[in-house]
Amino acid sequence: MAILELQKISKAFGGVQAVDGLDLGVEKGEILGLIGPNGAGKTTTFNLISGVYPPSRGRVLFEGKDITGMKAHKVVIMGIARIFQITSLFRGYTVLENVLTGFHLYLRSGLWSSLFPTTESINRYRG
Ligand SMILES: Nc1ncnc2c1ncn2[C@@H]1O[C@H](COP(=O)(O)OP(=O)(O)OP(=O)(O)O)[C@@H](O)[C@H]1O
Ligand SMILES: [Mg+2]
Repeated sequence: MAILELQKISKAFGGVQAVDGLDLGVEKGEILGLIGPNGAGKTTTFNLISGVYPPSRGRVLFEGKDITGMKAHKVVIMGIARIFQITSLFRGYTVLENVLTGFHLYLRSGLWSSLFPTTESINRYRG
């Protein structure tokens, strides 16, 4: 069974049909590339999967659950993360610190302990 499944998803921006009835299944462990000319709808497809906006039609299933139209901050908790075509780094951060900016999803600390970390919580963060 596909871990990620797109069922006839479509997205129109006004009169522009960016994605039109796309069916796609990704198996667990599979590495899949999406190739197409400029404006083919690749980025739009990733935006539909990651919840940047909902599809006009069709469904997105992840691990058998319907995540169609789910907001991006909820989709990322489900385990789907994306990077952008034009990437940027935090200037002045080390490589490790840049990587760690996406790591907060795996931490269980709340707002208070994030603002006022203890030595113990910092050591836990450093592993
Ligand atoms: N937010 C938007 N509002 C209006 N039109 C959009 C929007 N995003 C994409 N489009 C249009 O939808 C179509 C598909 O664009 P998309 O960015 O998905 O293509 P792409 O395959 O990622 O292209 P590229 O190879 O240039 O990155 C294009 O005609 C584009 O102009
Ligand atoms: Mg693109």
